Amino acid sequence: MAEIEGARRESNAQPYAILVVDDEEAILESLELTLGTEYRIFTATTGEAGLEILAREEVALVIADQVMPGMSGVEFLERVVEKNPRSIRMMLTGYADMSAVVRAINEGRIYRYIQKPWEPDELRVNVKRALEAYELIGENAQLAAALAEANEQLRAENRYLRREVERRYSFEEIIGESNAMQRVFEVMEKVAETDATVLVSGETGTGKDLVARAIHYAGPRTERRFVAQNCGALPDTLLESELFGHKRGAFTGAHADKKGLFEIADGGTIFLDEIGETEPGMQVRLLRVLQDGEIRPLGSSETRKVDVRIIAATNRDLHKEAEEGRFREDLYYRLRVVEIRIPSLRERRQDIPALAHHFLDKANQRMGRSIKGFTNAAVDRFVAYHWSGNVRELENEIERTVALAGGEELVGVDMLSEHIRGAQPEGSAADSSEPIVEWNMNAAVDTLKRRLIVEAIRESGSKTRAAERLGIPRQSLQKMMKRLGLTDDDVSA
Ligand SMILES: Nc1ncnc2c1ncn2[C@@H]1O[C@H](COP(=O)(O)OP(=O)(O)OP(=O)(O)O)[C@@H](O)[C@H]1O
Ligand SMILES: [Mg+2]
Repeated sequence: MAEIEGARRESNAQPYAILVVDDEEAILESLELTLGTEYRIFTATTGEAGLEILAREEVALVIADQVMPGMSGVEFLERVVEKNPRSIRMMLTGYADMSAVVRAINEGRIYRYIQKPWEPDELRVNVKRALEAYELIGENAQLAAALAEANEQLRAENRYLRREVERRYSFEEIIGESNAMQRVFEVMEKVAETDATVLVSGETGTGKDLVARAIHYAGPRTERRFVAQNCGALPDTLLESELFGHKRGAFTGAHADKKGLFEIADGGTIFLDEIGETEPGMQVRLLRVLQDGEIRPLGSSETRKVDVRIIAATNRDLHKEAEEGRFREDLYYRLRVVEIRIPSLRERRQDIPALAHHFLDKANQRMGRSIKGFTNAAVDRFVAYHWSGNVRELENEIERTVALAGGEELVGVDMLSEHIRGAQPEGSAADSSEPIVEWNMNAAVDTLKRRLIVEAIRESGSKTRAAERLGIPRQSLQKMMKRLGLTDDDVSA
């Protein structure tokens, strides 16, 4: 007689438990004899007694007689399915008519049947297989649960990242209370909903990147990709391959086909930064994409349709470039379906204090500092400075200040870079070239008074001399400073 080794759980676990239910004690004994050396056997002579055992024990396999007084085998196994759906179920049958058994098998309620009288070896093999199935089902359920959990985690992470990206590039992250910026926001909002090509222009560091991304993430393409390419950074052929892709062998070093950014951005947005730097050949190819929505990879004879929204940016005066023949006029007009000109920081000085605080918060957070703000004098210098590098220069200045700060609560003038420390308001208040930023007469007069007082004290070196110069009594100067919120720190040079 062949030795058949039973199914066993991992080395130190208990052997599997098998529940046998039959009204004939002799059958129970003989099954116990056949299987008892390999497994833990529980026996019952009625279905009811069997269910009680099932409630207590972790049973892997249930074997039931088909015909019993009271609860029949089929009924009993049905209850087992409800109570312990994972268990494997087998039926003992002595009948020639198998229709009930076959139905139970087909309906998935039992795994297989054992015909009486049985051959012990065959029974052992069947039981072993059944328990292997039990183990696999368990493993499967565990893996499926782990996978479902991992998927859920990934999904949650994706949702979080998407929200983060959307938040980071949302309109709210763009600071701008000035009328000029409010007009920029209005156009951005309108254009975000459309597929219109947008040309964003402005000096370096004015926020062209930020605006392009915000338009993408505020619009219907937000779920698709935003890809950016700096057109000034690469020689023509490389740029062409980046944007349009290439076929294998298109040029030396093209070892495999490569997808271009236009294809990668399909359904989304492509941001062509520094478009003014492109060469004439590239300008022709871009014109073709704008006209026909088609691209052709380098070395390929076939064109492909793409659905990509284009946002371009430039810090040049592209209109002038086109007029003077350095940029294709037809491409210029295709690009500037909507043009958003971001004003330089000098043209919107009233945004400077809010921007400074915004960057201070960010720098504090990043560097674990808790500087509360700026002295009035420091803000004055910021407002007065020329900022040829615009918002980026302001951001860098504040980062630098925070990085070098000791334990100060406020950023004072002495902490600023040399060139900014010495900034003087450009022109006088009556200079008609400065746009009027404050239309309220009283507020405007206060601003002028503040400026006059600060200048007078700084230049003359004392309040008494300043008062003389301003033609007012010293006490009035003192009172006026208090009302205008000017401190000694503000008026110190
Ligand atoms: N209105 C704003 N509010 C908040 N942050 C701003 C604003 N404008 C610009 N920034 C920040 O200033 C920095 C420069 O902005 P950005 O890179 O968008 O400028 P740019 O116009 O694309 O510059 P360049 O011409 O050099 O490419 C970025 O860190 C950006 O987040
Ligand atoms: Mg940029």
